[in-house]
Amino acid sequence: MELRGQEGESRPSPAIGNGLLLPFITFFLILITLPQTALAIFTSQQPDLLAPGPALNNRAPIDNSSLLECFQVSAPVASPATPSCQQTLMVHTFGSSYGVPFVGNYTPPDCDFNRVIFNFTVTSAGRQFDRLALMFLNDTEIFRTSTAEPTAKGIIWTYVKDMSSFLLLFKEPQKIIFDLGNNIDDTYTGSWYTTLTATFFAEEDSIDPADVIIPVSAHRSAENSSSAFVVPDSKAINTITLPQNVKKAVFSISACGQAAEEFWWSNVLSSDTNVFAGTTLYGYSPFRELQLLIDGVLAGVAWPFPVIFTGGVVPGFWRPIVGIDAFDLREDEIDISAFLPILCDGKEHTFEIRVAGISDNGNQNGTLTETVGSNWVVTGKVFIWLDSVGIITTGTVPTISTPSPSIGIQSSTETIGNGTVGSLDYSVKVSRSLSISSTVTTSAGSRSVTWKQDLAYSNKGLFTDSGNEQINQQFTSGNDASSSTYTKAFRYPLSVYSAYKVLQGGNFTIVGDMSRGKNVVKTGELAFPSELKTFDYSHSPTQYGSSFTGTSSFDWQNGTASYLGAPALKRSFGSGTTEEYYALSGIGHGAGGTDLYRRHVLAANDTLLLDEQRFGDQAPKKSSAGAQRSDTPTFAWKSAKTMLGHGPA
Ligand SMILES: *[C@@H]1O[C@H](CO)[C@@H](O)[C@H](O)[C@H]1NC(C)=O
Ligand SMILES: *[C@@H]1O[C@H](CO)[C@@H](O)[C@H](O)[C@H]1NC(C)=O
Ligand SMILES: *[C@@H]1O[C@H](CO)[C@@H](O)[C@H](O)[C@H]1NC(C)=O
Ligand SMILES: *[C@@H]1O[C@H](CO)[C@@H](O)[C@H](O)[C@H]1NC(C)=O
Ligand SMILES: *[C@@H]1O[C@H](CO)[C@@H](O)[C@H](O)[C@H]1NC(C)=O
Ligand SMILES: *[C@@H]1O[C@H](CO)[C@@H](O)[C@H](O)[C@H]1NC(C)=O
Ligand SMILES: *[C@@H]1O[C@H](CO)[C@@H](O)[C@H](O)[C@H]1NC(C)=O
Ligand SMILES: *[C@@H]1O[C@H](CO)[C@@H](O)[C@H](O)[C@H]1NC(C)=O
Ligand SMILES: *[C@@H]1O[C@H](CO)[C@@H](O)[C@H](O)[C@H]1NC(C)=O
Repeated sequence: MELRGQEGESRPSPAIGNGLLLPFITFFLILITLPQTALAIFTSQQPDLLAPGPALNNRAPIDNSSLLECFQVSAPVASPATPSCQQTLMVHTFGSSYGVPFVGNYTPPDCDFNRVIFNFTVTSAGRQFDRLALMFLNDTEIFRTSTAEPTAKGIIWTYVKDMSSFLLLFKEPQKIIFDLGNNIDDTYTGSWYTTLTATFFAEEDSIDPADVIIPVSAHRSAENSSSAFVVPDSKAINTITLPQNVKKAVFSISACGQAAEEFWWSNVLSSDTNVFAGTTLYGYSPFRELQLLIDGVLAGVAWPFPVIFTGGVVPGFWRPIVGIDAFDLREDEIDISAFLPILCDGKEHTFEIRVAGISDNGNQNGTLTETVGSNWVVTGKVFIWLDSVGIITTGTVPTISTPSPSIGIQSSTETIGNGTVGSLDYSVKVSRSLSISSTVTTSAGSRSVTWKQDLAYSNKGLFTDSGNEQINQQFTSGNDASSSTYTKAFRYPLSVYSAYKVLQGGNFTIVGDMSRGKNVVKTGELAFPSELKTFDYSHSPTQYGSSFTGTSSFDWQNGTASYLGAPALKRSFGSGTTEEYYALSGIGHGAGGTDLYRRHVLAANDTLLLDEQRFGDQAPKKSSAGAQRSDTPTFAWKSAKTMLGHGPA
């Protein structure tokens, strides 16, 4: 592969522009309209060198002189120039920690604050899988993350996140439960040395956090346990009584697939799981829908972003640049204000989160399911903004229009000479619109409230070489709109190719190719603050912010990687090249969009080769990491089935 943009070399702007747009155009332009801002991105690069990153803390018994820095590309988060109010919430080593979360006590700091940010810093050395972590304050999940895979010499990463939407939780004493299940043995030696600090500060342009947050969770903090539901083994349902003076309510869903559901976007139709001799594929189709049901009635849905963890498909893609959202598994939001006339009656109501896939009868006829494979890790929250004390919210019974989605499925197989199936070609198309509206009467009078979603999904899958080779091209897009000023338009393109080969003697290889994106245009806000409020403007030449009504974020990753598994040795080796473009811009008032931040990174074989950052319309800053590592990167050994969702276990 030709590598451009090596250290010290400047990259001409047309190449950067093409690099950004070409894959997008090739796969998706027919289907979508690009956010206008994307077209203006990555021009006039004039790189110069940045100083190397900050020194590392001595926090772990790891030789810190040679730690590889892993990172998730995201917009820098505002923090005070000189933090005066900080707390270390956790310093903890997760060794053999399955079912044994960190348990600590949180006491609010003695300072005024309306903002909270987290800094989660982790080091690890040795061999280890990617692991999922959930953090709770009492029974409420507030942060979900996953780990990078360590190297023998060690890795480090820091993820900084604005936590101000949970402000009210930070104003009271809480039990901290941080659940990062890990296993240590002779082969998998990597522990996670973690430090979590919170910085508290006050900003004038403040976020409007909820007054009450009610978790929909397994409520197990009293037993020092994670409060996650594991669906479908258990139902994700709680019975709740809301306050009666609610003026706005938002539901958030935190959910990700694990085990048979980790690569849900590459699953096949249920009728095709046994088409290839000697292997069982995962079913329920590659489509997933997260549903919110209030008193058994569909109140909104979320079509999940396809997160890929750092051991996923080919681990060589994801070090040091981790996959989009791997360090911050974000929540989807549904405005449930239209239900307030019912929810404010002082009585109990059920809130349930379901994960749906598609079942089919083998006859090109698919229907939405109420269950999927094992499993999804799920929690939810009701964010509530209160009206004056003594007021009771009333209004009309909501008009609910949630027709079944339109589902189109197709699949066909081809047999090879001796009569066995050699290839499977399938596709799934789903679209759905829903709308819920009512009149809500609060102390401010009556207003009409609506929640609308228009969603479209397609996935084309092709298995060849008797199931050893697979490609999936998925595209999820949608428009969510609330009668508040909130709108969200999203596009999640994904294309993943993998080919798996068994070598003589039992070793196997996987080669892969991926490109994916997460592009979101938002105005207004529901439970989580707009990036306009959390963005770090301190590097920007001019103060933007207030003149915008929303943001457009563009995130694109692509790369190639390969993997050699040596089961007999319980070892594995890999290589890979990954490139990522990220851009955040402010939109609104008729303007096409104004750059706030851009970053372009390129890494190969555990080495960051190019790192260009640019704030506002400043000249880009380029920093390049040290010399190429000479050793072959190693990863925790995984079976093909674990990495791909197919192949032998
Ligand atoms: C690295 O670790 C050593 C000993 O473990 C410590 O003395 C040193 O201060 C650390 N360096 C940094 C930059 O944290
Ligand atoms: C995050 O915390 C670590 C120590 O745990 C520190 O070394 C690092 O500078 C902090 N990073 C940011 C961006 O605050
Ligand atoms: C959290 O749970 C503890 C008991 O474990 C309780 O004392 C505390 O009041 C709870 N905090 C909140 C804000 O409910
Ligand atoms: C929960 O953890 C705390 C602190 O480690 C401990 O004091 C308490 O006994 C534990 N409670 C239960 C139910 O295990
Ligand atoms: C599709 O399947 C559903 C349920 O399995 C059934 O009710 C429906 O009649 C089927 N439609 C066709 C066209 O076969
Ligand atoms: C059919 O051919 C394929 C590919 O050569 C081979 O893997 C498979 O074992 C054969 N099946 C039978 C039943 O001979
Ligand atoms: C498997 O690959 C490893 C690493 O290259 C090699 O050392 C080993 O000899 C291979 N095993 C076989 C049976 O070829
Ligand atoms: C990413 O895609 C662009 C455009 O197709 C291509 O030029 C670039 O080489 C790719 N990067 C990697 C690491 O594969
Ligand atoms: C990464 O390693 C692989 C396998 O060792 C090698 O073929 C490839 O050229 C390396 N890539 C770079 C950019 O050095």
